[in-house]
Amino acid sequence: MNQDYIKPDNWSILEEGFDVERVESSESLFSLGNGAMGQRANFEEQYSGATFQGSYIAGVYYPDKTKVGWWKNGYPEYFAKVLNAPNWIGINILINGEMLDLYRCKEVRNFRRELNMKEGWYERSFTAVLQNDLEVEVKITRFLSIHRNELGAINFEVEVLNSDATVVFEPYIDSGITNEDANWEEKFWQTLDVKTEEHRAYITSKTLKTEFHATAFMQSQLLKNGKVLSEEATEVIFEEKISFRYTVEAKKGEKVSLQKFGGYVTNMNHKKEDLVPAAKAVLESALKAGFVTLKKEQKEAWEKIWEMADITIEGDVKAQQGIRFNIFQLNQTYLGEDARLNIGPKGFTGEKYGGSTYWDTEAYCIPFYMATKDHHVARNLLTYRYNHLGKAIENAEKLGFSNGAALYPMVTMNGEESHNEWEITFEEIHRNGAMVIAIKRYVEYTGDYSYVPEKGLEVMIAIARFWQQRANYSSQKDKYVILGVTGPNEYENNVNNNWYTNYLAKWCLEYAISNIEKVKIDYPGDYDRVMDKTGLKVDEIAKWQEVADKMYFPYSEEYKVFLQQDNFLDKEIIPVSELPKAQRPINQKWSWDRILRSCYIKQADVLQGFYFFEDHFPKEELEKHYDFYEPLTVHESSLSPCVHSIQAAALGRMDQAYQFYLRTSRLDLDDYNHEVKEGCHITSMAGTWMSVVEGFGGMRVVEGKLSFNPKIPNGWNSFSFKVNFRNQILKVSVAPGKTGFVLEGNDFLEILVNEKSIVVEPNNLVSV
Ligand code: BGC
Repeated sequence: MNQDYIKPDNWSILEEGFDVERVESSESLFSLGNGAMGQRANFEEQYSGATFQGSYIAGVYYPDKTKVGWWKNGYPEYFAKVLNAPNWIGINILINGEMLDLYRCKEVRNFRRELNMKEGWYERSFTAVLQNDLEVEVKITRFLSIHRNELGAINFEVEVLNSDATVVFEPYIDSGITNEDANWEEKFWQTLDVKTEEHRAYITSKTLKTEFHATAFMQSQLLKNGKVLSEEATEVIFEEKISFRYTVEAKKGEKVSLQKFGGYVTNMNHKKEDLVPAAKAVLESALKAGFVTLKKEQKEAWEKIWEMADITIEGDVKAQQGIRFNIFQLNQTYLGEDARLNIGPKGFTGEKYGGSTYWDTEAYCIPFYMATKDHHVARNLLTYRYNHLGKAIENAEKLGFSNGAALYPMVTMNGEESHNEWEITFEEIHRNGAMVIAIKRYVEYTGDYSYVPEKGLEVMIAIARFWQQRANYSSQKDKYVILGVTGPNEYENNVNNNWYTNYLAKWCLEYAISNIEKVKIDYPGDYDRVMDKTGLKVDEIAKWQEVADKMYFPYSEEYKVFLQQDNFLDKEIIPVSELPKAQRPINQKWSWDRILRSCYIKQADVLQGFYFFEDHFPKEELEKHYDFYEPLTVHESSLSPCVHSIQAAALGRMDQAYQFYLRTSRLDLDDYNHEVKEGCHITSMAGTWMSVVEGFGGMRVVEGKLSFNPKIPNGWNSFSFKVNFRNQILKVSVAPGKTGFVLEGNDFLEILVNEKSIVVEPNNLVSV
């Protein structure tokens, strides 16, 4: 089906016209979040057509027992998932006794959705003719407050156009919910307490096994023509559901509405026994402020976010809408104030990938958060992994490693490995290297080295121990090899000597050694503490050096490129351009067997290495490897186009860079992979940001200085972005042939533009 139904607009995501086939996709695209909770854009009122109900609370997860056919040692016990939480948005509407249900209406006209990204709210409006011939005009506004992150608000307005009518609003909360994605159809929540108090309702439930306690709550008020009515409500309490019934007589043309406030409080932030009083306090202050003030607060909160994070693009509305959608979703998912939380690949927009943490955070998300927020946010993301170091050591022990070697999980909620697939997920040991890359990038970008002696060095040592033990000496090659891995390209499993993995391992070993030396000299107190804690011996370091020095890298003399893995050239090498369109995406059209023996690459693999270690190779090497691997790449991971866009820009191939940019920025809006109904690709959205800032802006850190190499795609009049570099805010505006820099604050900043040094004075435009 055609998925380009989203209307281009600079600041909003717009849908016009009602199509039952699009409901689930739109539920993903119009999702809301505030970092602490999020929800798909499900209808508040009853809907009997196909829908995917989803409401999620950050950090609240369930360990669903792993489902594998033949159990083997080392498999994880469970698959962690952020689970669908009790529903607080529901409002049934009855008009003269008939239930409003868009699936059953005689006619739906003027259906429109708007996700206003500038101000952070979602609105849906339509005119519907019910089976009883009543014609109603409906407008619903909803948002999840950034400022009060346990609160959401809904204004549901109804006007009967062709008659006087009795309108009944039935707001409810319901903890009888299920997950679409469940291994054994188990129940995840147990309802503990259902309680009302005046117009307020609370349902407290706990997750089974993990024992998270959450209270979902609501309070509503009825309005006629904008004035609050003091109507009484009758309440109906079921085992897992509470609803109130508000009845109002509306004259033809009169607007009646229900304002509903609701949300969650959990024992992550309150004592278990205080949940109901905490919920009551949220409701009382919300009611006191009122819907209008809350919406104004929301606008202000988003203004502040955009002030720093916005990227403007002039002359290309689709590109502008794409990047803002990405920035908006990233901020809806993670705001960085809580080191217990992280960024799930689908954020709060779906259940796939279980809301768990992947290498995506370290490999893709860190740069965005580092540059658009205060530096403590990126530090929180690093600290999240530091806090999981003990578990990473346990993970490695379970697989037979020793002496404090750590293997970070590919998928995790609490530090434990928790996925279902062996060859793909567990064998992707390259993720261990991404943990160290993130530290390196953090230090380089923020200049805050203190993280290394305080926390990072321990992580580096444990990871170096892992690589040294995981590599084995091949006497035949007189080299160290790393066997039986999966690289970032998941369309090859259980391969030997994946170049990316080997290169990363070597680099991690050397980086750990050089940081140990630096900490020893500059931070002797921390050095002693870390040596004591880790029990690191000098001969161990010598062994690391030996493995690093003798690491094996598969190489083709014929093509003069590093090979993705041993024997890559045994494959039939046929470029993707020769694959019939009907056979793509191959992950939906081909058997797994056929994919594995093909030469097709899911996402950047060798090129991922060239992305991280760009400065290790001359540009001609990048070009050669890009020309060899890109034509074999199907980009069937959302993480793929952004890296290729950056590299195409670096190589001056602006048309291709632009095509990849559109693909990454509009991946969900235009549903390139035909799966947006499962949720949006949140982590790759940070890659979209990188493709503007690092790709078109050419931003890098070179010897402690920001460096730019700006380029602009054809057809764009200009683009601009802001970065927080070492607590100085720099705005960069690029137009054809001209780049402007404006610095906030009082200090000057020396930057490099096309390799030339330039000094930017505060509050003074510098044009180059
Ligand atoms: C990608 C992985 C990624 C995961 C979650 C997979 O499709 O191949 O690299 O970590 O999605 O985003």
